[in-house]
Amino acid sequence: MAICKLFDPYPKDSRENFFDEEEIISEVEKLLSGKFWPLILGPKRMGKTSILKIVVKELGGIYIDASSIRSIKELGNSILENSVTKFQLDLKIFKVEIEKKPVSTIRSILNKLGNTILAIDEVQNITSPWLISLLSTAYNESEVRFAFTGSMIGLSRALLGSSKGKKLSTQFKGRPIVRIEISPFNEEMSRKFLDFGRQSCGVKMSDDEIVDAVKTYRGIVGWLTYYGNFRSLGYSHEKAKEMVNQIAENLIKDEIKTLGKIEKAIIKALSLVDNAKWSDLKTITESIYRSSIKDWSFNHALEQLILSRIVSKNKEEKEYSLTDPMYKLAKSLTEF
Ligand SMILES: Nc1ncnc2c1ncn2[C@@H]1O[C@H](COP(=O)(O)OP(=O)(O)O)[C@@H](O)[C@H]1O
Ligand SMILES: [Mg+2]
Repeated sequence: MAICKLFDPYPKDSRENFFDEEEIISEVEKLLSGKFWPLILGPKRMGKTSILKIVVKELGGIYIDASSIRSIKELGNSILENSVTKFQLDLKIFKVEIEKKPVSTIRSILNKLGNTILAIDEVQNITSPWLISLLSTAYNESEVRFAFTGSMIGLSRALLGSSKGKKLSTQFKGRPIVRIEISPFNEEMSRKFLDFGRQSCGVKMSDDEIVDAVKTYRGIVGWLTYYGNFRSLGYSHEKAKEMVNQIAENLIKDEIKTLGKIEKAIIKALSLVDNAKWSDLKTITESIYRSSIKDWSFNHALEQLILSRIVSKNKEEKEYSLTDPMYKLAKSLTEF
């Protein structure tokens, strides 16, 4: 059985399989052609990796997965390994050089790449302060154009020059970074997404089932994709939902692992109530945490969750909620 391309669970690498009503791919490409550097922000599973892969394939470039890159040396090695054949670089020599003087070696590799696109996925993970200065010199001295995805924590925040009082951010202020925010699909878009898959792949799903799936996954495209994929394989609506839950549980367990204790308690609180005002959220969080929490530490944790798009703030109602409804599974995941 051929896989339904729209519902393929891997990140997409071609435009035909990417549902793009808002024409984000074209926008990213337009910015790059004008020598701006897009920074794509948004919750997990909203197609950020897919966008970078498609753009790199269409415009020619190098894709770097920085989700496990921490240091500038690791970044250098990854750039090198991904460009060695295309640009005929001497792997052995550069490897030794990266060990000895990573920053200047990356600089000279970037110069060799010429007018190409370097797409760095999950840039916030690279904690080295050298990256900002590396990017500054790349901007001034090389022709390489960058595209990034990340969340508003760590480095990607510094790239935008919004982290307070840090010397590094000022070095990069006013540089060509343009941020593009990706938000969960609204109900209409989610319905269109599933309907498009139903039609193009001939998947048997009823309108009622689509309505239920749209409500369940609240516009997080990754879950809609997995659900659609199970349906295209012939699983029933209920069975498909159960299987998506199972995958989500494992993924979310992993994602929550790295968070701080107060952050976990806030997530658990929001899994118990759908929307909460600040003071209610704090009270519920404290009861889960079994101790009072200072305002500033609570606010700091909440801010981190908002910046990483795990929690959304409704500005009009001043209420907080989980961006991804599947994070509610955290109810049974985190122990206090
Ligand atoms: N607009 C879209 N059209 C088709 N599939 C999508 C779209 N956005 C995301 N997906 C699918 O959702 C899942 C998560 O996408 P990914 O690109 O890894 O997102 P992110 O990097 O934001 O976590 C993948 O299975 C991908 O194929
Ligand atoms: Mg990704």
